[in-house]
Amino acid sequence: EFHLHPRDAHLQSAGWTGTFDYQQVQRGYQVYKEVCSACHSLRHVAFRNLAELGYTEAEVKAEAATWQVPGINPATGEPVMRPALPTDVFPLPYANNVAAAAANNNAVPPDLSLITKARHDGGNYVYSLLTGYRDPAGYTHDGMSLNEEFPDFTTPTGLHFNPYFPNLNLAMAPPLTSAGQVTYADGTEATVDQMAQDVAAFLVWTAEPTLQKRHQTGFPVVLFLIFATVLGFLAYRNVWRNVK
Ligand code: HEM
Repeated sequence: EFHLHPRDAHLQSAGWTGTFDYQQVQRGYQVYKEVCSACHSLRHVAFRNLAELGYTEAEVKAEAATWQVPGINPATGEPVMRPALPTDVFPLPYANNVAAAAANNNAVPPDLSLITKARHDGGNYVYSLLTGYRDPAGYTHDGMSLNEEFPDFTTPTGLHFNPYFPNLNLAMAPPLTSAGQVTYADGTEATVDQMAQDVAAFLVWTAEPTLQKRHQTGFPVVLFLIFATVLGFLAYRNVWRNVK
């Protein structure tokens, strides 16, 4: 295996007791909206779900309306594009996979709703992939250059070398290339590293919006089970104390 294990994005959601930094998840949503959504769908997320990030009902409504989704003109029955409602899911960027592949060097950009579950160490993987594009000529792994390990290795025209991607060459050009590509509503400086962390945090949330609840419930449950085990053991000793 020549590809690299993901680097740590230091997400607050990581670990046993991790929680969401909703401010960061909101910034990640902004990166998704302004950069990734040109090519990637988010078909399992509805606009109303954004309320969980701390937006009010009115804000969710206004945010949904900034997106266009396919609808039907009630008067004519003709298909039209209309502003999204909170109950809509995020729209698809392409009409179908053929159109998606045609626009992306024959690769279909995957739906991102569950990508951080589909890939090992998904949050860190997304962060590493986005910040991991390298020049294959200078790339070494365990002291070996790429061409020592794979003498015939090339990156075909239209593909891009990235040591975090298992195939090493992928069809996605680096989507985050310069600081200030988005202007954050909360004033955070939008370095490439920051945008990559933020969109990774967002995609951890889309794949498991209940992660924080799971951690906050699970941890006390495990503590209680340990306590109950100790109690059970002591009760057992007490019940059998006179029996030889
Ligand atoms: C693949 C994330 C922007 C086109 C992927 C993958 C991820 C990803 C996680 C999957 C890699 C894998 O299979 O392990 C993102 C994020 C973006 C973004 C977070 C925004 C910051 C874009 C844009 C385009 C694009 C703007 C199109 C211009 C593609 C394509 C693939 C892909 C074609 C498939 C690559 C292949 O399988 O060779 N992206 N992407 N992505 N993305 Fe993006």
